[in-house]
Amino acid sequence: MREIRRVAVIGAGTMGRQISLQCARHGFPVALFDVQAGALAEAERWQREIARGWVEIGELMPTREDAVFERIRYEVDLAQALGDADLAIEAVPERIELKRDIFARADRLLPAGAIIASNSSSIRVSALEDATERPELVANLHFYLPVWDSPMVEVGGGSCTDPDVLAALTQFARAIKILPLRVMRESTGFVFNRVWRAVKKEAMRVADSGVASIEDIDRAWMIKFGREKPPPFAQMDRIGLDVIHDIELHYAAESGDREDRPRPILTERVERGDLGLKTGRGFYEYPDPAWMRSDFLNPDAEDG
Ligand SMILES: NC(=O)c1ccc[n+]([C@@H]2O[C@H](COP(=O)([O-])OP(=O)(O)OC[C@H]3O[C@@H](n4cnc5c(N)ncnc54)[C@H](O)[C@@H]3O)[C@@H](O)[C@H]2O)c1
Repeated sequence: MREIRRVAVIGAGTMGRQISLQCARHGFPVALFDVQAGALAEAERWQREIARGWVEIGELMPTREDAVFERIRYEVDLAQALGDADLAIEAVPERIELKRDIFARADRLLPAGAIIASNSSSIRVSALEDATERPELVANLHFYLPVWDSPMVEVGGGSCTDPDVLAALTQFARAIKILPLRVMRESTGFVFNRVWRAVKKEAMRVADSGVASIEDIDRAWMIKFGREKPPPFAQMDRIGLDVIHDIELHYAAESGDREDRPRPILTERVERGDLGLKTGRGFYEYPDPAWMRSDFLNPDAEDG
């Protein structure tokens, strides 16, 4: 079976910085590329903060912290980032033309035989494969946020992906301690995102049509499914409302169904620049969102 030894991650945003850190933590040399030098600097700062946290709670030996960062190269030159990689994972914004452009450039710059994978949340890799001259070496490799707390990844091929590529990606996922979920047939949204899509879409419809408040929908969710994890609107804030918006637009373009278009409750926030946790305001306000307060689910609290 082909072996993945060196990884390149394209895009150092919310996902790229996590995927690259997970790779480095589990022994893979990784090059992290972004078009913006500032995004790389911010990614490194963030990764070091996370690694320090792991050391503090005993999840990472202090002696291993430096080794993790010795394995990460921060690159502003795509050719440098890709020149020695066995696997490139793109994590750039959810726009099909941008991803096709990245696939085409990666195809020209990667060694022969290297795999190109997309972390897209909704775009099937068969919509990207013909941007390359190596359609048998492309795949969807869809991680979830936060990568180490939601340790699963969907692995799926396009119209002609070599089964050996999927086997190598499955083995790679296990090597970085992420459970691979095999997508047996191409499907927009893969496995869990199809389920999550129904949840977030209906949650937004219920709020948008004035049936219930964002907070009450989230309260109901937390009471039924657990108080520790973010409920639907809080989770959308974490993902990024711009990312959610792009995904909804993609679903709508694919189905042609007006009902699939992003709801005003989402669009109006994106237009205002209220993108969730990353901008300090989305469905909730940060750093102290109401859903995390101790009285959020308290029946005695006035707003509870
Ligand atoms: N946010 C999530 O929870 C999540 C989860 C799973 C998958 N995804 C998918 O991962 C991808 C990235 O999402 P994100 O949330 O990390 O986005 P993001 O906006 O946080 O980060 C995207 C990064 O890509 C960079 N970029 C833009 N154009 C580029 C180019 N041409 N070359 C290199 N870098 C470029 C940007 O500077 C930015 O740093 C999307 O396809 C999204 O659907 C997101």
